[in-house]
Amino acid sequence: MKRYILMTLSLTFIIVLGACSNNLGNMNPFDMMDSSGDRSEGSMMMGHGHSDVPLQHSTGENELKIPPILQKDKEEGNDVYYTIEAQKGQTEIFDGIQTKTLGYNASFLGPVMKLKKGQTVHIKLINSLDEETTFHWHGLIIAGDADGGPHDVIQPGEEKEITFVVQQERATLWFHPHPKGKTAKQVFEGLAGLMYIEDGMDDPYVYGENDFPLIIQDRTFNDQKQLDYEAVKNADGTMGETLLINGTLNPRLTVNQEKVRLRLLNGSNMRNYTFKLSNNQSFQQVASDGGLLNEPVELTELQLTPSERAEIVIDFTKIKENEDVKLITDDGTVLLPFQVNDKESKVQKEMLKPENPITISDEIMKKEVSKEIVLFGMMHHVTINGKKFDPNRIDFTQKKGETEVWEIYNKPDMMGGMIHPFHIHGTQFKVISINGEEPPENLQGYKDTIALDPGDKAKIAVKFEEKGVFMYHCHILEHEDNGMMGQIKVE
Ligand code: C2O
Ligand code: CU
Ligand code: CU
Repeated sequence: MKRYILMTLSLTFIIVLGACSNNLGNMNPFDMMDSSGDRSEGSMMMGHGHSDVPLQHSTGENELKIPPILQKDKEEGNDVYYTIEAQKGQTEIFDGIQTKTLGYNASFLGPVMKLKKGQTVHIKLINSLDEETTFHWHGLIIAGDADGGPHDVIQPGEEKEITFVVQQERATLWFHPHPKGKTAKQVFEGLAGLMYIEDGMDDPYVYGENDFPLIIQDRTFNDQKQLDYEAVKNADGTMGETLLINGTLNPRLTVNQEKVRLRLLNGSNMRNYTFKLSNNQSFQQVASDGGLLNEPVELTELQLTPSERAEIVIDFTKIKENEDVKLITDDGTVLLPFQVNDKESKVQKEMLKPENPITISDEIMKKEVSKEIVLFGMMHHVTINGKKFDPNRIDFTQKKGETEVWEIYNKPDMMGGMIHPFHIHGTQFKVISINGEEPPENLQGYKDTIALDPGDKAKIAVKFEEKGVFMYHCHILEHEDNGMMGQIKVE
């Protein structure tokens, strides 16, 4: 809504200016327009014209693929060892056709790595691609030198081992590559996997039975049903008309008449999804990016921008056998039809509560803003605080263990602007306010990415538990690649 108002205002502005001046370039009245002039890749008026890549409905003809759980190489006391290999492969996404893809320990996508709080984890990282890559642990609290940012390149054929202690609460995190300027392409071609953090508490849900990950992505395939990133890439974020969930084309999910937890990950390069159920039934959001919410939040709609996660619980006891219910988007696109069986579960599962309730102390509420972040621009002209990413420049510093208040502002441009999902590495932050107001309940848990509409200003409380250099950036992957990224050194 806000977006259209801004758009209208901007258009009025252009018309008014056009009427009394033809010297827009020199005036730059509100510093609203990027003056370098190259808008050739998007039409001027519809600069953010992405909404015109509609997503095709899932026909539901294929049962959803469930990623395998990554097996440990070994375990010695508190130390666990894993291997993750980035590799090339061929995958049958379309019946009878081999598509060239990338994956982790697989031809496409990756396994679920389950780690426990308190464990010391050793991961051997192998790059079997033809190009350099990095292994980034999105949402994980980890030292900068193991975080897999653009500095941690592993050359083709090489390997590296990282070690870290799992120090956060249960959460659904993910991992993906992060090489400078090539993140979007490598994710597009299939590099993405899930990392679940668990703790000692029993989880009432069972993986693959009533607890399912949904890695939601949109892709464009060429006539040969291949992924040709260079041919379809868009500097403002690449969208595709083909939906894949866990790499499954036209997925459906068979469930019993019980409560089912879905762990949603928006793994798309730029598309935003607002999820709902086709019968308008409500569901509960029980976790956000960084783990459980204090209380489940009852919702009928939920938006996730790229890289955001949410765990939701749908109560299928309210749905009759073979009743036609689907996960859809707010504009009615079918993402995932459910096949509901009559098998009832014995127990009504109660979701866990976080071990330590999430609160923001008065002291932090009263703190002054110490870091200001301004997100601006589109296409190749995206910036943070007027600058593009420079691996040799440290933009901010912060002390380990100290909480600072960051203010993030999505500055509109003449076209209105677009949503930028702002992400910080190596931390889980708390949202203090959005436009001066208390955030909605489902944003009161731990977050590592916050979606800002054009004009939005958010205050967040950020603390780093580990030292090192960490990235912060827009998680529209093409914006990241185009330099909408900065780095903070934690000492
Ligand atoms: Cu998913 Cu730099 O992050
Ligand atoms: Cu990240
Ligand atoms: Cu962006």
